[in-house]
Amino acid sequence: MRAALPPFDPMQLATEADPYSCYAAYRAQDPVHRGIAQNPAQRTCWYLFRYRDVLAALGDPRLGRERPANTGENAAAASPWLLDRDPPFHTAVRAWLQDVFSARLTAPFKPRIEAIARALLAPLRSAGRCGFHTGFAEKLPAAVFAEITGFEGEDAAQVAGAIEELLAPSRSRHRGGLARTLAEDRARTLLSRKLERLLDARRGMPRDDLASALLSAADRHPHPLTHDPVRLLLSMLRSGYEVSVSAIANGIVTLLQEPDLLASLAAQPELLDGTVEETLRYESPLRMVDRWVLADFEIDGRQLQRGERVYLVLAAANHDPEQFPDPETLQPARRDGLQLAFGAATHLCLGATLARRLCRTTFELVARDYAASRIAPPRPRWYPDTNFRILERLHVELAAAP
Ligand code: HEM
Repeated sequence: MRAALPPFDPMQLATEADPYSCYAAYRAQDPVHRGIAQNPAQRTCWYLFRYRDVLAALGDPRLGRERPANTGENAAAASPWLLDRDPPFHTAVRAWLQDVFSARLTAPFKPRIEAIARALLAPLRSAGRCGFHTGFAEKLPAAVFAEITGFEGEDAAQVAGAIEELLAPSRSRHRGGLARTLAEDRARTLLSRKLERLLDARRGMPRDDLASALLSAADRHPHPLTHDPVRLLLSMLRSGYEVSVSAIANGIVTLLQEPDLLASLAAQPELLDGTVEETLRYESPLRMVDRWVLADFEIDGRQLQRGERVYLVLAAANHDPEQFPDPETLQPARRDGLQLAFGAATHLCLGATLARRLCRTTFELVARDYAASRIAPPRPRWYPDTNFRILERLHVELAAAP
C-alpha cells in the first residue's frame, strides 16, 4: 500500500541544504509518484525516485524529449539542438558530435587545465576568506572552454569573460534589469563575433581544437545543425558551463566536509577518480531531467499516459540505498555501479570527460596544496532552482597543511 505523502513539489526543496531526506521518503514510500507540475499549463506530472526506474527510463524509447503530436504545443520539434530531440534526428547528430567531443580533444589540454586552476587558486589564498564560487568555480570552466574551443591570449581572456557574463550563475541567475540585459547582449555579441572569426581562421588552417574538429565533422556529415556552427558552439557552452560550475563548487563543499578524505587524496592520488564520481553522485548538479510519455505504459502498477510529463530525479536515484549501500557516506572505492549525474543511454552527457577532468584537477590541487582549507561563514547557500543544484554563496579559507 502506498503511504499518504503530500504531492511532491520540487520548488519546496529548491534551497534546502539537504533535499535528500525528502527524496528518501518518496523513494521508499511512493517511488513512482504523481506530484505537482512545474509547468503551470499542466496540473500534475510524474516523478521517478528509484535508481532502477530512473536508469530504465533514461533508455526507454516510450519516453522522449519531443512532446508527442496532438498533446500540446511541441516546442522541441522546432529546436535543432540534440538534447531537445529524439531519434532519428538525435541519432545522427549525436554520432558525429560524440566523435568531435571525444577524449582525444580534451587529453592534450590536461596541463593547461592544471596551470589555469593553479593560477586562479593562488591569489585566493592570499585573500584569506574568499568567494570560491565566483573566484574559482565560475572562472575555471570559462577559461578552459575558451582555450579548448581554440582561443588564445587576449582573445581567450575576453571570451572567458563573455562566457561568465552570459552564463555564470552569479550574474545570470535571478538578476534582472536593463543593465543586466545590456551586459548579456554585449557578451553574446562579443562571443558570436569571436567565434565567427575563429571559425574563419580555422577553415583554411585547422588545429587541435574544438572549432577545427566541428568544421571537419560538418564537412564529413552535412546536417541542418552544422549550417550554423556558431549557434552550435554556443549551445554546447550552454549545455556544459553551469553544470560544470556546479560540479566544482558542490564537489568542494562536499570534500571540505570530509577532512580525512581530503588528507588521504594528497597521499593516494589513485582515489581521485573515485572521489570525483562520489561527489557527483552525492551532489548531482542536475537534480532531474524530464521526458514526455510517447506511448501509454505501466511502471510499478502506475499507468503513465501518452502526453504526460515525467521527471527522472537523478539526485534521488544517486542516493538510492538499493544501488549504493550507505549512500550518505562518500566512498571513493565504491564499485556499486554507475552514478547517474551525467544521465545514461540516449542522451548520456557528451562533456563528461571534460567535466570529470575539471573536478579532478580542482580536487587534486586543493588536496595537494591547500589541504587545511575549510568552509568559512556564512554557510553555503543554494539558488532557488528546481532542476539545478547551483550554489549562490560559498566562502572558503584556503590554507596549506601545516
Ligand atoms: C559536471 C558537469 C556536467 C553534468 C552534471 C552534465 C549532465 C548532463 C546530463 C544529465 C545530460 C543528459 C540530460 C538528459 O538526459 O535529459 C547531459 C547531456 C549533455 N551534456 Fe552534459 N553535463 C556536464 C557537463 C557538460 C559539458 C562540460 C558539456 C560540453 C561542453 C556537456 C554537454 C552535454 C551535451 C551536448 C549533452 C546532450 C547529449 C545528448 O542529448 O545526446 N555537458 N549532461
